[in-house]
Amino acid sequence: MSVIFVTGGAGYIGAHMCKLLAQAGHIPVTLDNLSTGRAAAVRFGPFEQLDLTDAGALSDAFARHKPEAVLHFAAFSQVGEAMAEPGKYWRNNVLGALTLIEAMLGAGCKQLVFSSTCAIYGEQDGVTLDEQSAQAPLNAYGASKRAIEDMLRDFAASHGLRSVVFRYFNVAGADPEAEIGEAHDPETHLVPVVLQAVAGLRPEMQIHGTDYDTPDGTCIRDYVHVMDLARAHLLGLDWLQAGRESRVFNLGTGQGYSVGEVLARAEAVTGVPVPARFGPRRAGDATRLVSGSTRARTELGWEAQATLDDMIRDAWRWHLRLHGNAPPR
Ligand code: UFG
Repeated sequence: MSVIFVTGGAGYIGAHMCKLLAQAGHIPVTLDNLSTGRAAAVRFGPFEQLDLTDAGALSDAFARHKPEAVLHFAAFSQVGEAMAEPGKYWRNNVLGALTLIEAMLGAGCKQLVFSSTCAIYGEQDGVTLDEQSAQAPLNAYGASKRAIEDMLRDFAASHGLRSVVFRYFNVAGADPEAEIGEAHDPETHLVPVVLQAVAGLRPEMQIHGTDYDTPDGTCIRDYVHVMDLARAHLLGLDWLQAGRESRVFNLGTGQGYSVGEVLARAEAVTGVPVPARFGPRRAGDATRLVSGSTRARTELGWEAQATLDDMIRDAWRWHLRLHGNAPPR
């Protein structure tokens, strides 16, 4: 049993992680400023409400809990917002990570699992992406994550900080037991937006761009279930606790779906047509982001198990739980 700090533990992915950590016998301590997270999602261990740029509060939390490792999820993560307000992303994501790393080193904690993103790859001409693919982020969100990856390399060299970096593809779905799920406000991610439209909580959803160079003209993404993702983090912790060297892993399924295909699967799973209209491209979106990597499978022993239908079904169950049984229109 280990004490593990989970930054952003009140957020979507962090809360699922805390549930899995608790099930695996660890003590997940959530560090979250509740700027986007929800206190109600912190149910699986202690809660420290603090901002990661507050060095004093951080070192105090490290001194009291003495964590063995840190899982760092806390970050702003919306592409549209990052295009409009890049300063918010550079300040919060990069300064938060730097302050966290310095607090870790001050406390002698040298194991970090970091949430990076496929958004660091940018536009890549239809190829599938592996960990060596060129990096060319199209937005401040991806750029801020790439900067933190650089930072980790520097602190590995100078202080022996060891990290597992996970570059997530598009995370979707919810706890199959519907205890926790995705609840951003405002919601911008495709699957929950589609389900809100299905439930009549928004009049319609907008398809951002239909003139991409893909079979149906809409963007292609690689969707991965949040619980599959959380399982990878347990393996990442094992990797670090076994004393292994820093490593970067893509986390995706290798299967791409267009926005149009996601809508079709949502209609099939919910049995309700998705009210949708075609809109312009969203700035900062790449045409196609699909993981071609086998590294996580061969080295970590991780493979995504859930299908896109599983993700939509679990997200729908959570949606119904959160909003009541909103009758499909
Ligand atoms: N989309 C729509 N309409 C919507 C919402 C999204 O058409 O209302 C489209 C987007 O344009 C994109 C796809 O659906 O083509 C997925 O969009 P999301 O906003 O759900 O997610 P992103 O592809 O922007 O994902 C990026 C990074 C991920 C990261 C995520 C976090 O690639 O690594 O942002 O926001 F996790």
